[in-house]
Amino acid sequence: MTKPAAEAPVYVPRTLTDAAMRAVHALGRPVVTGGEDPPERAALLRDAAGAAAVVCTVTERIDAEFLQAAGPALRVVSNTAVGYDNIDVPAATERGVRVCNTPGVLDGATADLAMALLLAAARRVTEGDRFLRGRPEWVWGPQMLLGLDLSAGATLGIVGYGRIGQAVARRARAFDMTVVATPTRDHPEGSTDADGTAFLPLDRLLERSDAVSVHVPLTDRTRGLIDADALARMPAHAVLVNTARGGIVDEHALAEALHAGRLGAAALDVFDGEPAVNPELLGAPRLVMTPHIGSAGRHTRDRMGLLAVANAAAVLRGEEPRAPVN
Ligand code: DGY
Repeated sequence: MTKPAAEAPVYVPRTLTDAAMRAVHALGRPVVTGGEDPPERAALLRDAAGAAAVVCTVTERIDAEFLQAAGPALRVVSNTAVGYDNIDVPAATERGVRVCNTPGVLDGATADLAMALLLAAARRVTEGDRFLRGRPEWVWGPQMLLGLDLSAGATLGIVGYGRIGQAVARRARAFDMTVVATPTRDHPEGSTDADGTAFLPLDRLLERSDAVSVHVPLTDRTRGLIDADALARMPAHAVLVNTARGGIVDEHALAEALHAGRLGAAALDVFDGEPAVNPELLGAPRLVMTPHIGSAGRHTRDRMGLLAVANAAAVLRGEEPRAPVN
């Protein structure tokens, strides 16, 4: 039997930070929670049944089957993430279910990680770490582990000049890098903004950049955007960084380019088919990898969780959420 609307629970498939979980309980509704790990699909569908709100993460696939399993009480799916490629937004819209996300609160954390990965890949930090652990008897060498100098006039190409891309640009400028970016609605091709960022079509950006950092969402248009052709345009010393979504980079082409020495180095925080990592990448040289931790600052994760809960609460009260997707 369907519960009266005010009693329909909030479903939180994965335990969020303490602050976010306190906010969930403060909604004054029954709460159904999963654990630390992603629920099995069957448990996800079972526990969603009858929920009025779902506060989920990027690991839950929210599709027509999920929405059907949740049932008619469902009013909002609030993703604890800025990206929402895990959610079938048209299917939710068709059912009158609001979808929300968490833009703005994770820009700094994600940009910090993009810079950390850029520095690590350019200056061979993880290689140095492995080298040292395997050779306690090492000596300093004039040509040991030479890498790309970012602050000697290197150009950073930013693919996707939204909030996170701009946060990366600010950090890169502090490293004396020249910044170029793909055009936006406000910054047409051929223009230069007040900070000196020049806006170039993707092909020219790839050819001109010593390092490229990806900050576009995953959509039908961006899937495979950095493919074999795109990689071939990059200089052989260049570094590729991806903290956006794995599907934007063709992982097979990337592994081949690294093996063939056609790309200087790469650093990935995101993978196509997460949580699996393509074995071709595991064997690729000069590749730094982290497990999708772009937003994993303690403060940032609190802010993401609190915004996701606030979005859900607003919809449940019949108000406009702060960060609606549909
Ligand atoms: C996002 O917010 O989209 C991140 O990838 C999740 O950490």
